[in-house]
Parts: sequence; C-alpha cells; structure tokens
Amino acid sequence: MSKDFIPAAKPIVGDAEREAVDAVLRSGMLAQGAEVAAFEQEFSDVLLDGRSTVAVNSGTAGLHLGLLAAGVGPGDEVIVPSFTFAATANAVALTGATPVFADIELAHYCLDPEHVASVITERTKGIMPVHLYGHPANMPAFRQLAEKHGLALYEDAAQAHGATLDGAPVGTFGTFAMFSLYPTKNMTSGEGGMVSTGDSEVERLLRLLRNQGMQRQYENEVVGFNARMTNLHAAIGRVQLTKVGDWTRTRQANARFFDKNLDGVGVPAVADGAVHVYHQYTITVPEDRDGFVAALKDEHQVGAGVYYPIPNHRLPSFARAEDLPNTEQAARSVLSLPVHPSLDDEDLERIVTAVNTVAKAGA
Ligand SMILES: Cc1ncc(COP(=O)(O)O)c(C=O)c1O
Repeated sequence: MSKDFIPAAKPIVGDAEREAVDAVLRSGMLAQGAEVAAFEQEFSDVLLDGRSTVAVNSGTAGLHLGLLAAGVGPGDEVIVPSFTFAATANAVALTGATPVFADIELAHYCLDPEHVASVITERTKGIMPVHLYGHPANMPAFRQLAEKHGLALYEDAAQAHGATLDGAPVGTFGTFAMFSLYPTKNMTSGEGGMVSTGDSEVERLLRLLRNQGMQRQYENEVVGFNARMTNLHAAIGRVQLTKVGDWTRTRQANARFFDKNLDGVGVPAVADGAVHVYHQYTITVPEDRDGFVAALKDEHQVGAGVYYPIPNHRLPSFARAEDLPNTEQAARSVLSLPVHPSLDDEDLERIVTAVNTVAKAGA
C-alpha cells in the first residue's frame, strides 16, 4: 500500500484566516491601513517585548529598508554568513554596500564570532547574523565585537519567530531585525515581513522608505519604495500570531521526539541559554546526502529539504574566492526533516523509521 507523502513544509491556513480576509474584502479598505497598524502592535506585544515594529511586503524588503534606514550604503561593508538564503547578502548588495562573507560554527550553523573578528576592516559598518533554522546566533559575542570595533548589529530573524537567548527574544538585539512572513515560515501573512527596531529615527525612516518617502500624502521627504503590506495580508498575519506560540511548542515537541529516536545521523545541538524554534530540524548525514534525500522521498515518501546546497559566496551572483570550510561542510551534509505542527504521531514514527532505515543502509 502506498503511503501519503509527508511534505517538508506545510503552511496551516484555516477558517479564521479566511474569515479575516473576507472581513477586509467586505470593508473595502484593502491597502495598508488599520489592520496593518494592529498587526504591528500585536507582533510587537507577542514576540518582541514591546519593541516597535514596521510591516513591509516581504522579508527581503525588510532587510533592504532596514539597512538603508540604518545608514548602510556604498563604501560600507556588512559581514554576513554565506550559509543562508541569498536574500541576506542580496539586501546588503542592493544598498550599494559590500557583503563580506564569514564562516559559521558547525554546532548551530550560525556565524562564528571568531571568524567574523578576522574579516573586520576599517570599512565594516555592521554585522548581520542570521538566526538560522530558528536557532539564535551568538548575540552576546557579536555585541562585544560590535562595541570593541564601533560597529552596528543587524539581525536576520527571518526563520526565528519566538526564539530567545538568555530570556531575550531575537529581534531585540540589533539596530533592526527582520522577520519573514513567507508561507513556509513558522507563521505567515501570505507574503510579508516585519522589521523591529528600538531606534526611533530608524523607525521613522523605515515608515518613510516603505511608502515612497511620504508620511503625509504627496509631501515626499526622501526617495522611497512601495514596500507596503496590505490589510489583506495583515489580517492573515494577525490570526496566525494567535497560533504561533502553540505551533512553536509543537515544533519543539516534534524535535524532542526526533532527538530521542533518530539513530546514525547528527541531530541539532542547542546552545546554553538558547530557545530553538525549529523552523527547520536539520540533521547531518555522513556521506551521499543527496542519495539520502532521494531515498527518503522515493522509498519512504518523506519529504526533506536541503537548506542550502550552494553557499552564497559561490553563487554566480557573488562568485567570491573565500575559504569557508565549515560553510562548505554544512552545505555538503545538511538535510532538514519535516517538523511542522501538522505532523501526527504516525507521521513522526514514519519519519524516524525512514531516517534510521536509510542511515543503516548507508545511503
Ligand atoms: C534567512 C532568510 N533571510 C531572508 C529571507 C527573505 O524573506 P522573504 O522570502 O520574506 O523575502 C528568508 C526567507 O525566505 C530567509 O530564510
């Protein structure tokens, strides 16, 4: 009997989201308005200990506008990981600044503070760690480096809604932080991004830059974009925000089950003081990672994702000659299992059996 395929990711959208969108449609107020303002306030209350947030139409726009609002531009360098989605470095490059790639720590796949220290130059303006897979980067070490060298910290929290470090939520460490609301993230608004900041001038500029440079209509103060979130997207996001806490707890319980039962593969470590929100549950396999992924899919109907097979510095869009051995090793050996909150007990058992069987067979 063929089993149902277990997808690597599964957005959960229900009646409450549909009703919220319908209410906005009926109101006729589709563009950025009261729903977006309410979503910003609620996101700040639920996930950011009250730090201000600005909603935009994608996470990438959030990074781009955040960097511009923080004063990053031509001649500056911003240190980023190469082992991340390309949007991190793209956003730096789009400001006219240069992304400088640093290596990661293999334990948590986030930027390595020691390697970051070695690539600081007099042009370095800031460091932008990524809380990859939902695990917080080592922000206390980056804060120390930033203070020592007079640099800014920015956070790519695209994958880390609700993650904390020593009790502080990610998104409260940097000049600004960005959360993606893409459908496969831990919560979604359809497409969208949220930028948090504790700096009132950065917040003012973010609000201007997302709206053609206008605070008052037709009185454009700076050259800006249309990066506004719609009320329709905010309505979806507001409903999802009421569920993300439970979904995160389910992701964490699923991760605990895998930690306990997987055999013959490397399971994700969690740093002292860190709360991981398992946007991805990422394992390492000793050899032939691509064969392992194919066997999970073809023989066991278990979807698995590879995030990310080509490090940014080797993409044709950047094509740099850096030597980043941990990044290369991670890109060769990681694979992410389904960990989303729609999995039931039978799915979890099937995933464990599939991984352990493929590992044992030496795929
Ligand atoms: C680490 C990281 N940075 C940036 C982004 C960009 O976010 P978005 O897809 O919402 O533009 C994503 C998500 O895709 C991401 O995973």
